[in-house]
Amino acid sequence: VLDIRKMYAQTGQFTYDPGFTSTASCESALTYIDGDEGVLLHRGYPIGQLAEQSSFMEVSYLLLNGELPSQDELTGFTNTITRHTMLHEQLSTFYRGFRRDAHPMAIMCGVVGALSAFYHDSTDINDPVQRRIASHRLIAKMPTIAAMAYKYSVGQPFVYPDNSLSYTGNFLKMTFGVPAEDYEVIPAVERAMDRIFILHADHEQNASTSTVRLAGSSGANPFACIAAGIACLWGPAHGGANEAALNMLREIGTPDRIQHYIDRAKDKNDPFRLMGFGHRVYKNYDPRATVMQSTVREVFDALKVNDPLFETALRLEEIALSDPYFAEKKLFPNVDFYSGIILSAIGFPTTMFTALFALARTVGWVAQWNEMISDPAQKIGRPRQLYTGPTQRDYVPLSQR
Ligand code: ACO
Repeated sequence: VLDIRKMYAQTGQFTYDPGFTSTASCESALTYIDGDEGVLLHRGYPIGQLAEQSSFMEVSYLLLNGELPSQDELTGFTNTITRHTMLHEQLSTFYRGFRRDAHPMAIMCGVVGALSAFYHDSTDINDPVQRRIASHRLIAKMPTIAAMAYKYSVGQPFVYPDNSLSYTGNFLKMTFGVPAEDYEVIPAVERAMDRIFILHADHEQNASTSTVRLAGSSGANPFACIAAGIACLWGPAHGGANEAALNMLREIGTPDRIQHYIDRAKDKNDPFRLMGFGHRVYKNYDPRATVMQSTVREVFDALKVNDPLFETALRLEEIALSDPYFAEKKLFPNVDFYSGIILSAIGFPTTMFTALFALARTVGWVAQWNEMISDPAQKIGRPRQLYTGPTQRDYVPLSQR
């Protein structure tokens, strides 16, 4: 109590808000969410329109620069990103230091953090030119880093970037191709993947983005900040939910077993939650889940597959949404509920799901980091606390305890 009074005296205000449910940490012009209405806008543009009509490169440009590019600007930006896709050759040695069964996210945390030891010419955060180069490097190299993490985890040789391909086509080739062999990018899969990247590009002050901003507020270099974001994203309540959602659907298996899991999710004595359901901000259908659901069918048609888990997922959604528990708590499918089914159909193992999220979210992290550094009101992030420990007491020598 003494602590609160002191703080109030110092600052004129004090709030205790665990989880930051009602505290804004910054101003931002990037992304707007109306969770009650299920609205998500990037620089004012609805996510549905961007997902249907735009490309990940264009959305990246939009997030970084504030406006949609002209054709020349888009070509210039895409060329710049393409020029930075290679990794320093020495980094392949770094990969080889990991255990062969390392989780791709463990490798990504390490490799992205290590970029700051390789690109000394873009770590001065006070130089706008260096900041821009670092931003481009991070966006460009993330597909290479993620694909190499995958290749390493399955014991296959690395595939170098093919810069004649699109950002997303190149990633698919580096992931599923074999060195010196032709790899045919299936346009519908490339389009679906690009759309998944758009859907994950930014989402205002989520846990990983807040982590990037907090790390960056101390002046840490951008590679270190993005590595911090990757570490935060890994958790099952955040980016790890897409992996957990597909594992859950596999465990449920057939529609006849759904009710049992719904009952478990409602049971206060059972820690089980429906993964891919619920969101801190959306108290309505996550607009990204709508696009994701329609993309499932497109990918199935293109690949001529039909995963019965999709039927299980649709039925699960239907049962949950008609259940008073979920209605009362406003729990709807989030972006992660259907994404795993698509990624699995394309051929990604579940361990890669969160790495793909990190790849796409890098543009949001980088844009938010740049916005923070350029903000004159920016200062080091330093939350206060509500002290609950003992009041002052005298030290007791060891012999007397
Ligand atoms: N299944 C069952 N019940 C749930 C679920 C769920 N998925 N999510 C929330 N609830 C219940 C909670 O038990 C709680 O009930 P109570 O009020 O009786 O205690 C109530 O709804 C509110 O839940 P909180 O955990 O307080 O809400 P919060 O905003 O902190 O959590 C979160 C949001 C973490 C996303 C949560 O809904 C969850 O764990 N979902 C499953 C994991 C998931 O899908 N994460 C992905 C999020 S999107 C993203 O990161 C891209």
